[in-house]
Amino acid sequence: MLIAQISDTHILAAADDHPSADLRADCLARVVADINEQRPDAVLFTGDTVQHGRADEYARLRTLLRPLTAPLYLVPGNRDDNETLRDAFRSEGFLPSSGEFLHYTVDAFPVRFIALDSTAPEERKGRYCDERQQWLAATLADEPERPTLLFIHHPPFDVDDHYIGGYRHGDEAAILTDIVTRNRQIVGVLCGHVHWPVEREWAGTQARIMPSVAVDVRKGIDETEAQQRPIYWLHTVDADACLVSHARMTPA
Ligand SMILES: [Fe+2]
Repeated sequence: MLIAQISDTHILAAADDHPSADLRADCLARVVADINEQRPDAVLFTGDTVQHGRADEYARLRTLLRPLTAPLYLVPGNRDDNETLRDAFRSEGFLPSSGEFLHYTVDAFPVRFIALDSTAPEERKGRYCDERQQWLAATLADEPERPTLLFIHHPPFDVDDHYIGGYRHGDEAAILTDIVTRNRQIVGVLCGHVHWPVEREWAGTQARIMPSVAVDVRKGIDETEAQQRPIYWLHTVDADACLVSHARMTPA
């Protein structure tokens, strides 16, 4: 099964006079065009879809995503506004129609997807409160044998010096790690937020952070020629439930 991941597009409204408004739209348009060429089974979007959580930004986002031929599933980031996002994507049917959190499962594929909402209003860091942990544990318990990909905006682990304590709220980190460690069906955890590429083992599974699609806020990729070419990730889950990932640079 082939899965494309996009993240941190930080889309701005067309009317916004921000110098990167059109650049970010172009980055996403190029990624969408290239994803269609790769013909993945599904696209997972790990949040920070827009910059300010505004309805006009989501309208532009929807327009840019419309050409996608594969089904899209997204989870919010700290830049998103959950209610405005829910309204913008309500007709797609994958988000819960009510409730505080925008997390859900997708059971239509050989690999099960679990979207975990790590956001909280006015909070830049990720949150994994008791209610979310209980939901995740119960959801995983429903399908203990089925290969599962968990996707979350905030990485639930430290990343180098600039992302230490990314979700330190009491024991949230330790408890989430325990839940994931106990559930061997989790073949990978896909994240965004950090804007640079990271791969590591975490909680007995493979974790991936993809760089931002928006090249003006991307980090960790210094090549001049590459600087303007948006990148996204392609993940394969093979018959042995092994996660293989590679970065895909859009054509020049
Ligand atoms: Fe971001």
